[in-house]
Amino acid sequence: MTHTPGPGGRIHDPAFARRVVSAEEAAAMIPGGATVGMSGFTGAGHPKVVPGALARRISAANAAGERVRVNVWTGASTAPELDGVLAEADGINLRLPYQSDPVTRARINDGSMEYTDIHLSHVAQMAWEGFLGPLDVAVVEVSGITEDGLLIPSSSVGNNKTWLDRAEKVILEVNSWQPPELEGMHDVYYGTALPPNRKPVRILHPGDRIGSPYLSCPVDKVVAVVETHAPDRNAPFKEPDDVSARIAGHVLDFLAAEVRHGRLPQNLLPLQSGVGNIANAVLAGLEDGPFEGMTAYTEVIQDGMLRLVDSGRLETVSATAFSLSPDAAERFNARAGEYRDRIVLRPQEISNHPEVVRRLGCLAMNGMIEADIHGNINSTHVMGSRIQNGIGGSGDFARNGYISFFLSPSTAKGGAISSIVPMVSHVDHTEHDVDVIVTEYGLADLRGLSPKQRVRRIIDNCAHPDFRPALEDYHRRAMASSYGLHTPHLLGEALSWHTRYLETGTMRTD
Ligand code: COA
Repeated sequence: MTHTPGPGGRIHDPAFARRVVSAEEAAAMIPGGATVGMSGFTGAGHPKVVPGALARRISAANAAGERVRVNVWTGASTAPELDGVLAEADGINLRLPYQSDPVTRARINDGSMEYTDIHLSHVAQMAWEGFLGPLDVAVVEVSGITEDGLLIPSSSVGNNKTWLDRAEKVILEVNSWQPPELEGMHDVYYGTALPPNRKPVRILHPGDRIGSPYLSCPVDKVVAVVETHAPDRNAPFKEPDDVSARIAGHVLDFLAAEVRHGRLPQNLLPLQSGVGNIANAVLAGLEDGPFEGMTAYTEVIQDGMLRLVDSGRLETVSATAFSLSPDAAERFNARAGEYRDRIVLRPQEISNHPEVVRRLGCLAMNGMIEADIHGNINSTHVMGSRIQNGIGGSGDFARNGYISFFLSPSTAKGGAISSIVPMVSHVDHTEHDVDVIVTEYGLADLRGLSPKQRVRRIIDNCAHPDFRPALEDYHRRAMASSYGLHTPHLLGEALSWHTRYLETGTMRTD
């Protein structure tokens, strides 16, 4: 029997094609109170139309006096078409494991949305262990469905395998905007298990493939298929400014010195680079640096990473998602087939897997909100209580990488806030997981140092000069009257910089 795929031309299995419905019909199959596992990792591979239809239904119900909300699990952050619309509609009861949407952030911080911030490599196992409760519906974007009913993943893999396996019922969005050449780029590993049945994850090189290029889902579970033709959504990156270029410069000088001292090979070790403009500036610096034949075992492929692939400097990249600006996405889509043998997209439980990150020896580079004088890092909370985004994959890589870097400008909010403080107001990465801190003023290599030795190096190398005297004064007085002198602190004063900011709008005392 011949079969004509739908208007998108991507559904080649008639059993799936028979399930094509509108976004509204699909959204109607998601009951109020449901827990929904959605695809999406950064602004890539998220469902483009079903969340909007669900948000409209929720708004209408709420306007009629009926309170309808759902719990939303994803891979990581998504886009306005998912987090944004559902948060606007006040439609989310609980959100996990990572977000960066302004409306969602506001709802979490005003207490109207619960948020569970989880290491990204832990989410799938938590779902399987049952700690997160049942998953009612999966809403997953794919880029096509083969004649044999296999699902060709989209521009992110995230937790899709787990959602498809765990959900009671499945809604698929088939997006013909995604390039057909994505087929073959993915490596979906189906060998994970819970203890005591776990086996080694045998990735010995970032480019190793150990799974299937396809996701699987029995058609009987699929209650709806929706065809879309809609772009991924990531904001353009800013051109590196002076501060981020200086931070990048310190990192590159450090890497070159490590090679000279024989502590890193000439082509470095696999790069992991977090999100944001500073990470992008480091990648831009690597374009002009002396390193050839590099690899990356990371979470997202941003513009800078793709440019390194284009220039031939980066031989292989493993990630779980693209995170490309609209221009870069257009360039990638036009030539996607050329990248297939150099880019591998995996589930996030594998892209961020501690065993693999440790084995490969990743160079983990992530942003931070603030560091303290002993090297503890706050990546998530402004003034100890307001969530910014979440821990994301930073902990997966920081603890297990070969060298763990944290990067930030030395001040925030126009210089009113010092990123180096006596004590961080929230701890995401303890001093034990932090090797190198970098600001525009310099780089503090903390490897092998005691807490008091770290204080000297962090203040001298990283703090903004305007804040150095106050940090030194704090440390001097702590040395005189701290309860213990291993990690000297004045407990009554340690968070006074933050309270001063909240009371006066600045951490400065002048
Ligand atoms: N105190 C108060 N606010 C601060 C601050 C500080 N010490 N440092 C930064 N901020 C604010 C900025 O002012 C900015 O606020 P705005 O949006 O109101 O302008 C916001 O935090 C983001 O800061 P920005 O300088 O733009 O940094 P960024 O985009 O590089 O992000 C993190 C920095 C820490 C928020 C980001 O890297 C992050 O979410 N990290 C955790 C997750 C992670 O590491 N993922 C990668 C793993 S693969």
